[in-house]
Amino acid sequence: MKKIVILGSSNTDLITKVKKFPAPGETIVGKEYMEAMGGKGANQAMAAHRLGANVQFITCMGGDENGKNALAYYKKEGLDVSSSLIVNEVASGTAIIMVDEHGENSIIITPGANNKLDPTYLLSIENIIKEADILVLQMETPYETVKKACALAKKNQTQVILNVAPAMPIDNAFLNNVDILVVNETEAETLSGGKIENIGEEAVVNILLDKGVKAVVLTLGKNGCFYKNREERMSLGAFEVDAVDTTAAGDTFCGALAAEIARGNSWENSLIFASAASAICITKMGAQPSIPKEDEVRAFLSKNKLSIQN
Ligand code: RIB
Ligand code: NA
Repeated sequence: MKKIVILGSSNTDLITKVKKFPAPGETIVGKEYMEAMGGKGANQAMAAHRLGANVQFITCMGGDENGKNALAYYKKEGLDVSSSLIVNEVASGTAIIMVDEHGENSIIITPGANNKLDPTYLLSIENIIKEADILVLQMETPYETVKKACALAKKNQTQVILNVAPAMPIDNAFLNNVDILVVNETEAETLSGGKIENIGEEAVVNILLDKGVKAVVLTLGKNGCFYKNREERMSLGAFEVDAVDTTAAGDTFCGALAAEIARGNSWENSLIFASAASAICITKMGAQPSIPKEDEVRAFLSKNKLSIQN
């Protein structure tokens, strides 16, 4: 089975359910409080792992209680974190998350130890990247680390999946080393400089393809997703579910996509599978507690169908 390496953040999520988000200066009462593991890197790694892939997760945690709990949780779940870094004097990453009654969220991340995953650490994991078939990255670890990891992967014929979340501009030399770019609307607009509202989704995706990325997956929330590479294009609808908490929906999508690509599945089947995994994720509270296992996704797919246009 192909090997996936996921390099990225790990956070402890402090989640409160609210009716609506507070205005500046306002104090409101939350409905429910929950602590759970999150962080875009960890969520994607957990998703690919629960969905049956061979995954190694590389992150940086602090030596504090949050870091110890994170490590214990990953071990209990069977996620390989053996090459992750632990930095004693720094606090582990946290995310303060508010989830409103529509399941939408508002997040403040304090990276802490995630910022300690600097480019020099890549020297000690170069072999891991070299031996991997697929490297998955997001933007919650330092920019220079992500950029250098992409270049290392490219040099070693490891396929690169980059999810540019949170949204930020990225230089072209960096994008040139990306095989599959996964972005939502905001991220696509930030990267391309084009507005979907004005020029349409395909034109925005074309700008990204012209920058040297081999394939683009544009996720559109309730409107599904759009995929394009140099030979094919397709639009997929979204599964309709009751949204409880959309946190980690994008991460679950990325992790699921990586798992399916590692299994050698077609683009169409991989995107359907990723959409289903992400739909299940939004029906539950919390990031990692809401990430489904493979059999759950297969059962969901046997009952629900998606519209596809080529
Ligand atoms: O994408 C969701 C994640 O963003 C949360 O788990 C939180 O930790 C932030 O990193
Ligand atoms: Na969720």
